[in-house]
Amino acid sequence: MMNSITLVCLLMCTGVSSFRFEELTQYVNSHEEEFIETLRQWIAVESDSSDVTKRSDLHRMMDMTAEKLRLIGGSVEMVDVGTQTLPNGSSIALPKVVTARFGEDPSKRTVCVYGHVDVQPAKKEDGWATDPYELTDIDGNLYGRGASDNKAPVLAWIHTVEVYKALNIDLPVNVKFIIEGMEETGSNGLDDMIVAQKDSFFSDVDYIIISDCVWLSKRPALTYGTRGNCYFFAEVEGPKKDLHSGVYGGTVMEPMTDLIGILDKLISPSGKILIPGIREAVAHLSDEEWKMYQDIEFDLESYKREIGLSQLMYSNKVDLLAHRWRHPTVSIHGIEGAFSSPGTKTVIPAKVIAKFSIRQVPNMDPAMVEKQVTDYLHSVFAKRKSPNKLNVTMVIGAKPWLADPKHPLYEAGKAAVKRVFAVEPDLIREGGTIPIARSFQDVTGKSIIMLPIGGFDDGLHSQNEKISRYNYMEGTKLFIAFLHEVSQMEKH
Ligand SMILES: *[C@@H]1O[C@H](CO)[C@@H](O)[C@H](O)[C@H]1NC(C)=O
Ligand SMILES: *[C@@H]1O[C@H](CO)[C@@H](O)[C@H](O)[C@H]1NC(C)=O
Ligand SMILES: [Zn+2]
Repeated sequence: MMNSITLVCLLMCTGVSSFRFEELTQYVNSHEEEFIETLRQWIAVESDSSDVTKRSDLHRMMDMTAEKLRLIGGSVEMVDVGTQTLPNGSSIALPKVVTARFGEDPSKRTVCVYGHVDVQPAKKEDGWATDPYELTDIDGNLYGRGASDNKAPVLAWIHTVEVYKALNIDLPVNVKFIIEGMEETGSNGLDDMIVAQKDSFFSDVDYIIISDCVWLSKRPALTYGTRGNCYFFAEVEGPKKDLHSGVYGGTVMEPMTDLIGILDKLISPSGKILIPGIREAVAHLSDEEWKMYQDIEFDLESYKREIGLSQLMYSNKVDLLAHRWRHPTVSIHGIEGAFSSPGTKTVIPAKVIAKFSIRQVPNMDPAMVEKQVTDYLHSVFAKRKSPNKLNVTMVIGAKPWLADPKHPLYEAGKAAVKRVFAVEPDLIREGGTIPIARSFQDVTGKSIIMLPIGGFDDGLHSQNEKISRYNYMEGTKLFIAFLHEVSQMEKH
């Protein structure tokens, strides 16, 4: 009788490599504390890309990332992506982009993992229960700024390669990394770098993997779409200086009144966008999509509790998810120039600037949206017959990203989730914007998958951000399994 050792040997001798998943996951289990220690060192670096006084920390973070990748045998480069101009006109160096390569076997597929190691600002005084830059383990949750967004997922990918190397098991695919340090402030320099390296670094890449988002519930998820964003400034300018409402009130048409009047015409109380042409551009919800949404694990009651509201815009799951992910919306963010400190000042502001944005979905086109919004606001404003001046400008026009969830890459993702978690993943979209996904797609033409490992309650960008030990470790196993599944995909 043939025992399993003979079988393994037979498979190896004939060139069919077996997948030593047990051995690989055992290694993860026995190195949990070591992996957490590395995360602790990374969290301790205040790599806040929005704060220029922390720039040396950010450079150090990029150095540490490069060092870690070198240590496990990668061919690492630190790519200079230029400088950033500050509001006062001076300029400072952008953090370098770290690239790494493991394996160059032309008979294997090549994946490229994207991630970032910069973080959002965080201060203990903001309401953190623990020091945001000291990783703190409470009941199996690892608290710290950047834990889930995006340091632990980046490390989980690095550990994935590390585990294969440590056990002397050939990587089933070639693996590349592209790790940046400006994601939280708009990925300055990265778009140009992707364009410049399209025919070099990216030439042999088959698939791009992004693990910079989270699950929707306790169930693992694969993400196949993100919304884009068109961000507007609407400025109304009137008298040449601020006026006293007691002295001038009643004699002038006030810029603030005009501005609020036109803002109120953007969206109805029930969420209907009133700008002509916007709703017409939105791709129809297919029956198949409806069915997919129906199957997703999502609890409206806990969603309400989480945000502290008794009523949502939609009371059923499918409508709510559809409006969170695949319909546009208008949000008004603030008014600049308005009197905003406490007290009862009686000023009539001479100039006010509203900031609002419209989340983009297929098949909206930002250039078209810019025209639709500008034309509409001017026509609404004209009806007011105000002598004040309106100026509408679009300052950001980020497109949405959408993948085909039936692509074999997603089948590989599903198989990996099933192997590690013994459940089917939810196929989800993100309401937010990850512009880099769209850039990768447009510039390189490669297929992209978003493979999150963060928990739904990780609190990205918020106080008390965390990742659980479970998600960090099982996430690493998920990546290990995913690389295997990618190597098994049919060439096409
Ligand atoms: C500009 O601002 C930066 C950061 O606040 C500061 O370090 C620098 O000295 C300033 N430069 C000038 C010319 O004021
Ligand atoms: C309109 O506003 C934009 C952005 O605030 C500004 O750059 C532009 O100069 C303004 N145009 C006019 C005509 O005031
Ligand atoms: Zn992120």
